[in-house]
Amino acid sequence: MQKIGVFDSGIGGLTVAKSLYEMGGFDELIYFGDLAHLPYGDKSEAAIQAYSVRISEFLVAKGCDTIVIACNSASASATELLKEYLDRRIRVINVIDPMVDFVVKNFPGADVGIIGTKRTIQSGIYQKKILQGDESIKVHAMATPLLVPVIEENLFSKDLRKKIIEEYLMKAEFNNISALILGCTHYPIIKDEISEILGNGVQILDSSEIIGGYMHPYLIDDKSKIASAQFYASDITDFFRDAANRFMGYQIDIKVHYLMNIF
Ligand code: DGL
Repeated sequence: MQKIGVFDSGIGGLTVAKSLYEMGGFDELIYFGDLAHLPYGDKSEAAIQAYSVRISEFLVAKGCDTIVIACNSASASATELLKEYLDRRIRVINVIDPMVDFVVKNFPGADVGIIGTKRTIQSGIYQKKILQGDESIKVHAMATPLLVPVIEENLFSKDLRKKIIEEYLMKAEFNNISALILGCTHYPIIKDEISEILGNGVQILDSSEIIGGYMHPYLIDDKSKIASAQFYASDITDFFRDAANRFMGYQIDIKVHYLMNIF
């Protein structure tokens, strides 16, 4: 039995989970959305590490042999810790390394933009890893903290949402970019709106599309195998249920699992 655990602070990691689920090649996917601690993007590294350890313990107890950190903020803060803590017996895959590999292979000498949460951008991890891979790439990074609430709450009118996205992306900083990395797994949900604002000349790079190729070597060589999926969250709201059902395209059963008592 190959079980893959996928986690994020909320709905964003579903973009990655859905793409893995549709790809198949494993037996079961277990998703954990840490709604009780959303958003991760403005938490300290220490807090995100603590949540990530608890979630991983839960996923390992459920029998997962691979953990996909489907959150850039947690990938930036907790990858090394989880690898160490899980003693390298469990495969830990994050969303940053597959994207960095893709950019280094496909955009030599280019200007590449990256948007993400404050935690991800301030960590400097994309900037550092891309430059380590190819120092001819010019990375333009910007924290776009309002985008997660816009997506999670879906509160804002389409016009207001467009204005917020424009406010971030129409900066001189992004004038010459050939590609924009969606450095937060929530952002693919508004990918079309981002693409409309930046125009066809800018390729939008979405980790939910890139991670499949990266995981390929680790999966069962039988893509017809249909995986089953279980969904857990550390807190639940009707809004999250509706949004998750809509996003996955079928009625999912989300069970609550409380993560910790100390926070
Ligand atoms: N989806 C997450 C990420 O990729 C985190 C969003 C948040 O909770 O702030 O960074």
